[in-house]
Amino acid sequence: MEVEQVLHMNSGVGQASYANNSSLQRMVISIARPTLKESITEAYCNNKVFPECLRIADLGCSSSPNTLTVVSEIIHIIEAISCQRSNQQIDKSPAFQVFLNDLPMNDFNAIFRSLPSFYERLKKEKGDKFGTNCFITAMPGSFYGRLFPNNSMHIVHSSYSLHWLSQNIIEAESLDKFNMPLYFPNEKEVENVIQEEGSFSLQKLNAFETAWDTGFITIENSDKKYNDDDDKLERGKYISDYMRAGLESVLVKQFGETVMDELFQRLAYKVIESMAKEKWQHKNLVISLTKK
Ligand SMILES: C[S@@+](CC[C@H](N)C(=O)[O-])C[C@H]1O[C@@H](n2cnc3c(N)ncnc32)[C@H](O)[C@@H]1O
Repeated sequence: MEVEQVLHMNSGVGQASYANNSSLQRMVISIARPTLKESITEAYCNNKVFPECLRIADLGCSSSPNTLTVVSEIIHIIEAISCQRSNQQIDKSPAFQVFLNDLPMNDFNAIFRSLPSFYERLKKEKGDKFGTNCFITAMPGSFYGRLFPNNSMHIVHSSYSLHWLSQNIIEAESLDKFNMPLYFPNEKEVENVIQEEGSFSLQKLNAFETAWDTGFITIENSDKKYNDDDDKLERGKYISDYMRAGLESVLVKQFGETVMDELFQRLAYKVIESMAKEKWQHKNLVISLTKK
């Protein structure tokens, strides 16, 4: 079974959903925000004219509040540039066509349901005209294959998605044969691949680390007080929950649904034990490329 036929973040907005367990990724998006802003600003420096319709793709958009946060961030950056230009006013800002890409099993319906309120918010923030200048659509498929016609995208964004590999097959037989198709390259490996492939110039490559429990304290739970033991427990559960939201679809295919609660409960305890001995960190790479 191809991973791409199985993989999806947990759907909907329930307790185990990705939408409810994506604050770590949200934090990373916010840390990478200055690089996103700089990269877009540099790409449109020296009054480089915007196309009439700016086409944006988000690869591996999933379905969570993060999806539209990234879209609105990019729109906001472009709009700010266009406002700053002395000869361009807000109504000269381009139209935006946004392609949200993910694998076909992604919960695109949840995103579509949130679009009317997103457009409403845009209208409120930026005026009626602007609100009707943004067109969001989905592009289901694997970003390891062809998704768009040649040279049709102006900005392509992707966050926390490229570590999923393409061709690995999930072996049906045994635990020994089970292969989680993830790979986390280091800076040098990424640089080499970009150079060898040759289509892109590397503009920026910044690395930073985030603790596994980054995003545990969110605006919603910032007033909760835990004692030490509860704090450890809640942090372990937080980590196990976001791993579940991302990995469950692949694990279920291999081991069946019935063991999932037990598996992730045990994982929470393992994480707590392990974090007492070692400070676990995710390594994040923020990369900006321009097409040659
Ligand atoms: C951890 S989520 C990140 C979602 C979102 N970008 C964020 O930062 O919250 C990774 C997403 O990448 C998608 N993905 C993985 N491999 C993919 C592929 N080959 N093509 C398209 N999407 C893929 C997964 O389905 C998943 O929704």
